[in-house]
Amino acid sequence: MKKKWWNDKIVYQIYPRSFKDSNGDGIGDLKGITEKLDYLKGLGADMVWISPVYQSPMKDNGYDISDYYAIDPIFGTMEDMDLLLEKAKEKGLKIIMDLVVNHCSSQHEWFQKALQDPKGEYGDYFIVKEGKEGKAPNNWRSIFGGSVWEPIEGTPYYYYHTFDKEQPDLNWENPRLRQEIYKMMNWWLEKGLAGFRVDAITYIKKDPSYKSLPADGADGLVGLSEVSSNYPGIEVFLKEMRRKTFDVYDAFSVAEMSGVNAEKLREYIGPDGLFCSIFDFSYMELDVELFQWYRPVKVTAAKIKEPLFENQKMAQEAESYLSVVMENHDQPRSLSKWFAKEEIGYETAALLAVMNLTLRGIPFIYQGEEIGMENIHFDHIHQYEDVMMWGQYQRAKQEGCTEEECLDMANRRSRDHARTPMQWDDSENAGFTTGTPWFPVNPNYKKINAKAQENGKSILNFYRELTAFRKSEEWKDVLVYGSLEPVLEKEENVIAYKRSLDGKELLVLLNFVNRPQKIHLEKEPKRALISNYPLEEIRSREYEMKPFEAVVLEV
Ligand code: NOJ
Ligand code: CA
Repeated sequence: MKKKWWNDKIVYQIYPRSFKDSNGDGIGDLKGITEKLDYLKGLGADMVWISPVYQSPMKDNGYDISDYYAIDPIFGTMEDMDLLLEKAKEKGLKIIMDLVVNHCSSQHEWFQKALQDPKGEYGDYFIVKEGKEGKAPNNWRSIFGGSVWEPIEGTPYYYYHTFDKEQPDLNWENPRLRQEIYKMMNWWLEKGLAGFRVDAITYIKKDPSYKSLPADGADGLVGLSEVSSNYPGIEVFLKEMRRKTFDVYDAFSVAEMSGVNAEKLREYIGPDGLFCSIFDFSYMELDVELFQWYRPVKVTAAKIKEPLFENQKMAQEAESYLSVVMENHDQPRSLSKWFAKEEIGYETAALLAVMNLTLRGIPFIYQGEEIGMENIHFDHIHQYEDVMMWGQYQRAKQEGCTEEECLDMANRRSRDHARTPMQWDDSENAGFTTGTPWFPVNPNYKKINAKAQENGKSILNFYRELTAFRKSEEWKDVLVYGSLEPVLEKEENVIAYKRSLDGKELLVLLNFVNRPQKIHLEKEPKRALISNYPLEEIRSREYEMKPFEAVVLEV
């Protein structure tokens, strides 16, 4: 397999609004990020992904861009961005930004012009169709709930939005629009970005017939999976994008693109793929029915490993690298998602860390994950902010959920759980800001914060140990380039796999339950290398794993 410069990178994701506020206005900013570069370096990150900081009305916290060439004033200035790039470079850290080009903001100049003349030049930058008998052109449901169509006032036309109505979709069928996008991407790459995390790209191609389908919910609408998820023809756009942008700069690209099957994976991210990598979200949302947060599902190790190993296998066969994620800004905290309140602690956090950093693929650490941050809890649903939660709330109501069930849904699932301010220390507002934070700090910050974990046994130090292990001369090739083979597949509560390369072999054992688990090993291990319990020799093939034990063995 041909090696690429990004194969061995560890990525840290920053949600800028909640990371570090440098000027006391309660909102995290670019200067705040620059202040913390040493922290990121010390953690073992090589590349930093910054969620959108472009100019935006912030209907979806920056995933609604009104000017791709400007920094939103709440985050600072273009000079701050340039300084961040410069400082990061000095420290050997690469920076990637979000590329949000399935849609822009309704405040973008293009859209404003389109509203003036829906069938004119800029109307064609968007997806504009005539309604049918006073109704929307079809019954497709947007990801955030409700129709994908919004009427353009005073005209017979509607425009299309995959997400919120303030996020109109861009018309990728229009070659002029595509050239505008590539020009913008190259402008940023020229500035020194190492690449992009590509937002919602799955949706850029739509079934051109725009036909209605049988409804799949009480709202009479139908989800987008058949009509605009990796819809055939999308690869034509993506090939062109790659050739005109990423290829020119040898840039890194990781796409948000769910549901890619084995057949397509090689084409998407194989040696000559459309992107460098895509996120493996296959086990991210097992705790709920697809796009239905009000329908909770119990998660077990057995449930996680099924899609996990299937995708790992697929990725190897396609000679490709998935990006491994436990958390991001769209998910509740992984500890809260996968474990009961009383189970959360050092062992469970370290268990997920081992999994994140020893699977085959590019590991992403989401801010706060490295200190074991947890979901927040509110007594009133109106304390939540996130636009997606409110869409789910409407649907939950239509499906007959009570207020109490809706609150429970929000407390489990809102994306806001990942967006509470980063907990730096035990001073007021967790050291995130000297002002009033834009969103409440999790009250557990006195106990859970980076400073308290600086020394001694802590989740943070365990992460540092793990990233160092992943980069160690002895094991880096096995962990980066080695194959992954599932073992102990029949064990309900244990996720276990071998990583091997050129005669070297590691065995990773993860016990997902709070009780001992007896397992039988194929070979006697040579030594234990890293664990969330004190290291001990394992000299037998019959081994009893401790509650929530995670251990990496040399075999
Ligand atoms: C995925 C992003 O991660 C999410 O935060 C956003 O709301 C949607 N795409 C729309 O851009
Ligand atoms: Ca600020």
